[in-house]
Amino acid sequence: MTTNDHPAEIDVPLDKPTSARAYGWMLGGKDNYEVDRNSIQTVVQEFPGCVDIARQNRQFLYRAVRYLVRDAGITQFIDMGCGLPTDNNVHQVAQQFNPETRVVYVDIDPIVLAHGRALLAKDSATTVITADMREPETILEHPDTRRLIDFSEPVAVLFLSVGHHLQDSDPGEGPRHALRHIIDDLAVPGSHLAVSQVVIDDPDRGAHMSATLNGFGVPWQTRTPAEVDALLDGLHPVEPGLVDLKDWRPDPAQPPLEPVPTALHPYVGVTKTNTEVYEYGGVLRKAA
Ligand SMILES: C[S@@+](CC[C@H](N)C(=O)[O-])C[C@H]1O[C@@H](n2cnc3c(N)ncnc32)[C@H](O)[C@@H]1O
Repeated sequence: MTTNDHPAEIDVPLDKPTSARAYGWMLGGKDNYEVDRNSIQTVVQEFPGCVDIARQNRQFLYRAVRYLVRDAGITQFIDMGCGLPTDNNVHQVAQQFNPETRVVYVDIDPIVLAHGRALLAKDSATTVITADMREPETILEHPDTRRLIDFSEPVAVLFLSVGHHLQDSDPGEGPRHALRHIIDDLAVPGSHLAVSQVVIDDPDRGAHMSATLNGFGVPWQTRTPAEVDALLDGLHPVEPGLVDLKDWRPDPAQPPLEPVPTALHPYVGVTKTNTEVYEYGGVLRKAA
């Protein structure tokens, strides 16, 4: 783990896209480069629903965090693969419903810490750690995690639009361990996981998408919904279960996202008719 206290010194790779920057662009963010925008333009040629589903995921984040704080009484979060800050980051949503909520943000891309420090680590109740979610033990050992998370109380661990960055071929203990170690081995009953990832029902098309993203140097595995279900067995999905995220407790009145960049306007609304690719997930509870 490398908690970076000198953001001016971070190495920003410009020869390949990064997930944080490219996804941030689809949400209307400004911290991205031509290589990131070009990668998205290539992907949407073949999978035009990707702009819609990125935004549907971010809207799900709002509804899931609201549910976890307001309805499930969660007061502490670990947000794995949190991404670059945008509107309605996890602590901002959570603290609307309980100002005492604490959040540990985790991302592997040091640009998140560099650009997010002011917004994501704004007070003693929030922090940003540069770390790899595939090494949950390291995240748990971090002094900020130890300071902010009390494992004798329920915790929510978020893996939002990051499941596809966990590959079955990952070294070490693999995606199941990354997703499940904290909830299974440390968290008390009443704790929750919120999970989403890009899925395609047709495994061949999913493999093609994975090859495209891996070709850009972005670790990626598109799964089928059944493959995601298998990673989450034994936990209890709250209503409506694991679904296409746009169907998870939809709320037309929730706050809007930042505008879609002009170059991506042709892809807005594509998923009304093209449903090949979607973000799949939900909120799951650890029972007693
Ligand atoms: C598509 S973005 C999702 C951002 C945010 N969770 C959301 O739902 O809006 C994926 C994020 O996961 C991060 N990421 C990818 N692999 C990671 C890893 N092994 N450990 C931690 N973060 C990772 C990327 O840097 C990126 O910021």
